[in-house]
Amino acid sequence: MKAQEVFNIVANKYDLMNDVMSAGTHRYWKECMIDWLEPFVGMKIVDVAGGTGDVSTRFLKRIDGLGEAVVCDPNSAMIEYGKKKNEFANKIKWINAPAENLPFENEFFDAYLVSFGIRNFDDMKQSLKEAHRVLKVGGRFICLEFSKVQNKDLSKLYSLYSKIIPIFGKLIVGNEKPYQYLTKTIEQFPTQEKFKQIIEQSNFSNVEFRNLFNGIVAIHSGWKE
Ligand SMILES: C[S@@+](CC[C@H](N)C(=O)[O-])C[C@H]1O[C@@H](n2cnc3c(N)ncnc32)[C@H](O)[C@@H]1O
Repeated sequence: MKAQEVFNIVANKYDLMNDVMSAGTHRYWKECMIDWLEPFVGMKIVDVAGGTGDVSTRFLKRIDGLGEAVVCDPNSAMIEYGKKKNEFANKIKWINAPAENLPFENEFFDAYLVSFGIRNFDDMKQSLKEAHRVLKVGGRFICLEFSKVQNKDLSKLYSLYSKIIPIFGKLIVGNEKPYQYLTKTIEQFPTQEKFKQIIEQSNFSNVEFRNLFNGIVAIHSGWKE
């Protein structure tokens, strides 16, 4: 199953499924990402794989709408759903494009955000190259993604839980396949350390990561010098 088919199927139940699967904790994880970003008035961000615009909304809320957010996503179903439900829909600029080929000038943004998106990219290294290109010097790359649970017992429990996720998919979306895809991409995604190295190899400096919930998710941050 391809990423685009997955998000076409789940678009109108996307936010509900996120709440069900994570018991609402994706909201907290996204807030942690925005905390670490430290938004400022006038900040210009691109929210790549931004989907329904959840992260951009959180960013704009922090600065009372006094910044610029561009949601960039190749899936029009996700964007259309986001435009309908999003309280900052008119403030956000919605762009239909993939991470591998961003339609922006060089050195345009203060920050590049990607939340639960990078593991779906067809070409992660090309996307990181694009991230580096569109950032201003002194700009920030920040990524929230499912990662590797550190504690062995918890990791076993989490693997069991992952097997149940497609059942939620069947019940709520009417199709388990997108959620089989989800768990497969999580398993295949590199460890925190390995992903840190990949970001460094893409010319970012001062790369660091923070684990949340024992590494169920991690936030990686790097700077363009
Ligand atoms: C799990 S959703 C994340 C949405 C949002 N960032 C969030 O955290 O709620 C993943 C998004 O990645 C997008 N996506 C898939 N392949 C992509 C690519 N090559 N470039 C950019 N976005 C992509 C999908 O269309 C989908 O909207």
